[in-house]
Amino acid sequence: MNEYVPRNLGLDLVRVTESAAIQAGRWMGLGDRVKPDRAATDAMLAVLNELDMDGHIVIGEEAKSGIHSPLDTGNRVGNGHGPAMDVTVDPIDGTRLLMEGRPGAISVVAVAPRGSMWSPSPAVYMHKIVVDRDVGEALVPECMDAPPAWTLALIARVKQKEVRDLVVFVLDRPRHADLIDEIRMAGARVALHSEGDIAGAILAAMPDSGVDVLMGVGGVAEGVTAACAVRALKGAMLGRIAPQSEMERERCREAGLDPEAVLTCNELITNDDIFFAATGVTDGPLLDGVRYHRGRAETHSLILRGMTGTRREIRSEHLL
Ligand code: FBP
Repeated sequence: MNEYVPRNLGLDLVRVTESAAIQAGRWMGLGDRVKPDRAATDAMLAVLNELDMDGHIVIGEEAKSGIHSPLDTGNRVGNGHGPAMDVTVDPIDGTRLLMEGRPGAISVVAVAPRGSMWSPSPAVYMHKIVVDRDVGEALVPECMDAPPAWTLALIARVKQKEVRDLVVFVLDRPRHADLIDEIRMAGARVALHSEGDIAGAILAAMPDSGVDVLMGVGGVAEGVTAACAVRALKGAMLGRIAPQSEMERERCREAGLDPEAVLTCNELITNDDIFFAATGVTDGPLLDGVRYHRGRAETHSLILRGMTGTRREIRSEHLL
């Protein structure tokens, strides 16, 4: 359980998302949803399986997408020779963005020692609130049920800003109509994004990114992955499963998941020994997308190491 986790794992890990992004980026704007996902998944798996670890996928995307892949919940990854690790992946977060040629699609992976990531299967959706480390103390569990105006006032006070100076990242979904109205009535500004709340959570957790807070309901797999990045950035997060159908509610109940439980970032991921990597697929507010040239490609990636809080950005050139 407490095997030595090599400190260069993050540098190895970035090859996983670079490889997935290079394959996925070829499909930008081509209108296909399935093929880029398959290409990115295959590329990601091939590199993951070269890494010295006994990896276990804690939560895959099959419950939401309905599509099975070798990166489903419970599958093993890594070459089996190394520390026992929990792994979450999203070969493409923002698949629709990619297929429509829009900004913001990224490829993501996070690993941490076995048993440290919250395992929310079979939940599909999660209510999330994310802020940066300067505001962490303001994010109390009560924020989950409080009117957004209350939470925004707390955040503004700690940031020594006015509420109208705050920018709130929200996924543009009908389920967020009331949330968006309430944020606007509170006086804060809303950044509506059609997809991609992992990037949204990272932006909210990075001081001075231009996003002060992420609010709303997105995928639970994306929530666990985002929690790894948020903890590595020393930000703060609250999460609670948010079943969107009676069937999802019933399955969660049968699995013993408490629909009322509000989890903090340190409960979503209980260990600091986190490595997180993301590579841009299309240009976005967090990362540049893949650029292709004759015989080579350029990528832009983010690597986070939870133990030290180190944040690295890497621009790489790959001969194809
Ligand atoms: P995928 O690209 O993996 O489909 O996820 C995109 C995404 O926007 C996530 O970032 C977000 O958590 C989730 O979908 C929201 O789900 P839904 O589109 O069902 O509201």
